[in-house]
Amino acid sequence: MLDEKILNVLRHSKDSYVSGEELCKIADISRAAIWKHMEKLRDEGYDIEAVPHLGYKLLSIPDSLIPSEIKWKLKTKVFGRSVISYRKVDSTNIIAYELGQKGVKEGAVILADEQAKGKGRHGRHWSSPSKGGIYMSCILRPSIAPNEISRITLLAAVAVAQAIRDFSSLEVTIKWPNDIMVNQKKLCGILTEMKAEQDIVDFVVLGIGINVNVPKTELPKGATSIKEELAPSGGKISLSRVELTKKVLERLEEYYNLMKVEGFEPIIDIWKDLSVMIGSRVKVSIHGKTFECLAHDINPDGALVVRTESGVLEKISSGDVIMVR
Ligand code: BTN
Repeated sequence: MLDEKILNVLRHSKDSYVSGEELCKIADISRAAIWKHMEKLRDEGYDIEAVPHLGYKLLSIPDSLIPSEIKWKLKTKVFGRSVISYRKVDSTNIIAYELGQKGVKEGAVILADEQAKGKGRHGRHWSSPSKGGIYMSCILRPSIAPNEISRITLLAAVAVAQAIRDFSSLEVTIKWPNDIMVNQKKLCGILTEMKAEQDIVDFVVLGIGINVNVPKTELPKGATSIKEELAPSGGKISLSRVELTKKVLERLEEYYNLMKVEGFEPIIDIWKDLSVMIGSRVKVSIHGKTFECLAHDINPDGALVVRTESGVLEKISSGDVIMVR
């Protein structure tokens, strides 16, 4: 808390020095204590200059997914108001689930620079190299029935796709239910888990993994990163994970509030606009069976409606769907 207070004073004073005395007054601590806080901030990656008789000046900030950076100028009321960051965890979803059980409030966010056992859909592994991506889990407490959980997944896909479009020039699209794609490669995945009673959701863990600066050599087959798409020949660009995380949180809050006020229909409409799947031929793999059909529509619960070869409309609520070229 105090680190954040000191940091914000330095941020506000931009190119000028803030004297040790002034910081002591603002933070109400001794000069030695100020020094200790500066050391801690430097450890976190802030470049802070200290000049005798002048004071302290912030030279550069790190692209670290730490609370002080995420919360700085974040335009949300609920999402990301509480942030917990780790250098390395097994899975942010596992931590968020434990915190959800302990009653942590809606909007809390768990972030990590690296995951050793990142969880993907259908028990798959989510590759999470250090500082290459955003590995984030949000705790939500929506008033919905357990069978409406896919609404949250679709809402998240819309929010993340829109955030990536705001952040970069990439025209990302959504592949049902929740893959964010660009040039037919996967850029982001979403894993929603929940704890529920018989007819009401207790909490939802919304896990989002976005490949931001991951180099080609560290990407799984069929995947890409924002960096690879913007500088495919290995050009030296580094994208701010902090800025993109903030945009994702802002878009999540926007669409979550929209759903609360106007229901799920407007979200489905935006989802359809961002999707490339509806109207295309797809291959569905479900319960060990694979068949080709036409992606016809999304129903009000977020299930995919397909027209089979025999002309029958069928509802697909889970499983893998790929587009047939
Ligand atoms: C998918 O298979 O498409 C879903 C991938 C979800 C990955 C994210 S990364 C942050 C969060 N923690 C996890 O262990 N998984 C999700």
